[in-house]
Amino acid sequence: MTILHIDASINGENSASRAISRSIVDQVKGANWGEEVIYRDLAADPLPHLTLDQFVDTSVLEEFLAADTIVIGAPMYNFTLPTQLKAWIDRIVIAGRTFHYTADGPEGLAKGRRVIIALARGGFYNEGSPAAALEHLETYLRGLFNFIGIEPEFVAADGLAIGPEQRESAISDALGETIRLAA
Ligand SMILES: Cc1cc2nc3c(=O)[nH]c(=O)nc-3n(C[C@H](O)[C@H](O)[C@H](O)COP(=O)(O)O)c2cc1C
Repeated sequence: MTILHIDASINGENSASRAISRSIVDQVKGANWGEEVIYRDLAADPLPHLTLDQFVDTSVLEEFLAADTIVIGAPMYNFTLPTQLKAWIDRIVIAGRTFHYTADGPEGLAKGRRVIIALARGGFYNEGSPAAALEHLETYLRGLFNFIGIEPEFVAADGLAIGPEQRESAISDALGETIRLAA
């Protein structure tokens, strides 16, 4: 069994999404003896923006398809995902490999994998809140993974820019929530 662990935050050791994604990996690993973990740090080793000739290199796609569980640290930048993470997504959503079109519409081909996403957001985007319409991180990632046949799970730390107390309690709650993922 293989876990693919992806991080994208530019905040190094101060990153909430990195701390939460690491905890998720520890929980999943602890529950499944012998898991191999492959780590990809998209901030330290960014993938270039997609160009046509890069479709030839399918190594990022193969790495994704070889994993049973994919854990992603996803900070919110400008209401959506970091471009570093988008460059990775551009390499895994590939017609004929992770989705295809049928007479009944698109069908995901990446079924059977578990995707767990650690979200870190500076503000609050709950349904009905003034900023809800600007939430393009969780909604995008859910729609994207649904499209390729996967229902992703989320652990979120929100309101991290509100103040130190909110930040500490949101991260601590999110880390606590990762424990249930081992089940
Ligand atoms: C470049 C940049 C853009 C950001 N844009 C938003 C934003 O649009 N909405 C928001 O709620 N927080 C925003 N934030 C705050 C981050 O989501 C927050 O600091 C979060 O903790 C980042 O994740 P990390 O701790 O894993 O780095 C932004 C932060 C940075 C660095």
